[in-house]
Amino acid sequence: MKVIVVANQKGGVGKSTIACNLAVAFSLERRKVLLIDTDIQESSLGFRAIREKNDIKAISITKPTIHKDIESFSNFDVVIVDAGGRDSAVFRSAIMAAYKGILIIPTLPSVYDVWATEDTLKILLDARAIVDIPAYLLLNQVIRANIVKEAEEAIRELAQQYNVGTLKTKIFSRVVYRNSIKEGKGVLEMDDVKAKEEMYSLVAELKSLVDLQ
Ligand SMILES: Nc1ncnc2c1ncn2[C@@H]1O[C@H](COP(=O)(O)OP(=O)(O)OP(=O)(O)O)[C@@H](O)[C@H]1O
Ligand SMILES: [Mg+2]
Repeated sequence: MKVIVVANQKGGVGKSTIACNLAVAFSLERRKVLLIDTDIQESSLGFRAIREKNDIKAISITKPTIHKDIESFSNFDVVIVDAGGRDSAVFRSAIMAAYKGILIIPTLPSVYDVWATEDTLKILLDARAIVDIPAYLLLNQVIRANIVKEAEEAIRELAQQYNVGTLKTKIFSRVVYRNSIKEGKGVLEMDDVKAKEEMYSLVAELKSLVDLQ
């Protein structure tokens, strides 16, 4: 069992979108997927509720027990945690759970958004004093590559300072991400070729990083 925690304290960066898309992607590979929603907004649970296929199991954990409970989900192949909200014991617990896999921190391609990610990286530092947590920033909602340059520079600095990686895959801003979620589907189940390509690339990159063959 591998855990993929998708977290950022900053709202609207695409945590739920990415968590749900990864859940779909791994379940299309016939892996047993558990989606854990730690956010009281319950976006991932909502996604599961409108999804017709019964392939993904979704639960809500809003108590700071995620890192302790995670072992008990070892009958799943992949556990994806959608971790939003303010700095809280629950958020810290979700970050700690990534010791069983990887922490992905989505960020939007603006310098301000990258800076806002620092709060989450500070929490990661605290968690890393206790357990080793591989962590990677992921650029989401990229619009045009040249605008991203400044943000990429800010990301490089932040990544270096906090000893986190940056995923090679970038997720572009595409209408299909909004539309598919509303249908309870991942972009891999829609017909946007570019979105599919980037989702396959993200999954391949994550598999190589967490050693999921
Ligand atoms: N790559 C993308 N392209 C287009 N729209 C996107 C993309 N990623 C996310 N969105 C949209 O941006 C909005 C915020 O995304 P999402 O809800 O996944 O973020 P979040 O980090 O989970 O937010 P919250 O902090 O409120 O939980 C949603 O309307 C979603 O459809
Ligand atoms: Mg969310």
